[in-house]
Amino acid sequence: MKVDISFEAKSSSNYSVFIDSDKSLIFSGKVAIVTNPKVAGLHLKSLLEKLTSDELYIITIPDGEFYKNQESLDLILENLFNHKFNRGSTLIAFGGGVIGDMTGFAASLYQRGIDFVQIPTTLLSQVDASVGGKTGINNKFGKNLIGAFRQPQAVYIETEYLKTLPSREFGAGVAEIVKMAVTFDKDFFEWLENADLRSIEDLQLAIKKSVETKAWVVAQDEKEKGLRAVLNYGHTFAHVVENLTNYKRYLHGEAVSIGICMANDLAVRLDLLSTSQSQRVKDILVRYDLPTTFEITDVEAFYDHFSLDKKADDSKIKFILAKGLGDHQMRDDIDKEIVLSTLKEYSV
Ligand code: NAD
Ligand code: GLY
Repeated sequence: MKVDISFEAKSSSNYSVFIDSDKSLIFSGKVAIVTNPKVAGLHLKSLLEKLTSDELYIITIPDGEFYKNQESLDLILENLFNHKFNRGSTLIAFGGGVIGDMTGFAASLYQRGIDFVQIPTTLLSQVDASVGGKTGINNKFGKNLIGAFRQPQAVYIETEYLKTLPSREFGAGVAEIVKMAVTFDKDFFEWLENADLRSIEDLQLAIKKSVETKAWVVAQDEKEKGLRAVLNYGHTFAHVVENLTNYKRYLHGEAVSIGICMANDLAVRLDLLSTSQSQRVKDILVRYDLPTTFEITDVEAFYDHFSLDKKADDSKIKFILAKGLGDHQMRDDIDKEIVLSTLKEYSV
C-alpha cells in the first residue's frame, strides 16, 4: 500500500508513505539510523537485512519522553560531525514518536538541513507522528516548544514491528485513529465501529485511512494556521489531564482518549453531537481498553489549566469539537459556565 502526500505549492516536499511494502531500502552516501536500545534490541537486525548504504552508523538515544531534549539532540549532531556527514547524507528515524520528532529536528538543523526518512515502530507514530513534518524536542518550558516543520523524504511503515508493542501503547495509537475518523471522515468512523484493529487487514486499512486523512490536512495547512489544529481534537483536555497527573499515569494517547470523551460531552451540551453519537465514540475507545473518564477534584483549577497551555497564542481557549460524526468545529467563544458544567460531570 502507498499513500502519496503532495504539497501543491511546494512540490519539493512531496513524498510517499509506504505501508507493508517490504521494500528494500537503498541509500547512497552516509546514513545514520537513530533509535533507542529497546527498538534496536527488538527490530534493528530485521531492518539491517533490508537496508543498503555506502556507510552506515547507528546512533542510540536512551528510551523515553524524558530524553527528547537538547542533550539527545546534541548527541545526534555530534555524531554527525564526528563522522563528517554532509548534505548528501541521510538520517533514519527508527522508533516511536520521540525518536521520530528528535531525528527530524536534527535533520532540519545539521548543515541547514539534510534528508531524513521515518520508519515508525509504534502505532501512534505510524498513524500520526511520522507524517506531516512536525519535529522537535521538549525543554523546561514545555513539550515540543523547540522544533521545525521539516518533511521526511519518505515514510516506511511495517505493521510487523507492532507485534512487540505493549497493548497499552497499541491503544494509545488507536485513540489517534479515532481522532481522525471522528473529526474528518464519517465512513471511516462507521467502518471503525465494526473493524477489529487487532487483525492485520483491518489494521493496515486503518493506518492507510489515518495517513491519508493526516496527509490531506497537512497538505492544506502545513504550518498549523487553521485546519491542522483540528488534529488537536481531545488534546486541550488531554494536556490538562497529563499535567495534573505529572505525565506519569497515562500514555499520551490514553489522555487523548479521555480528552475526546470530555470534548464530546461539551459538544453534546452545545448540540453539536447527540448523546448516542458520543456513546458510539466511547464504545470504540472502550473496546481497545482506553480510559474514558478522569476524576476531577477541582473543576475551577482544571479550567485554569487550559490557559496555562504554553502554546496558547491569546487569552481565548480554543476547543476542537466533533460536529456529528465525521466533521468538526473549532470554537474559541464557549461560555466558561458551559465548560464548567461539563467538567462537573467528572468531579468527585
Ligand atoms: P515513544 O516514542 O516514547 O514510544 C513508546 C514506547 O514504545 C517507548 O518505550 C518505545 O521505545 C517503545 N517502542 C517503540 N516501538 C516499539 C515496538 N515496535 N515494540 C515495543 N516497544 C516499542 O512514544 P510514541 O507514542 O510513539 O510517540 C510519542 C511522541 O510523539 C511524543 O513525544 C509526542 O510529542 C510525539 N508526537 C508527535 C507528533 C508529530 O506530528 N510530530 C504527533 C503525535 C505525537
Ligand atoms: N499531531 C498533530 C499534528 O501533527 O499536527
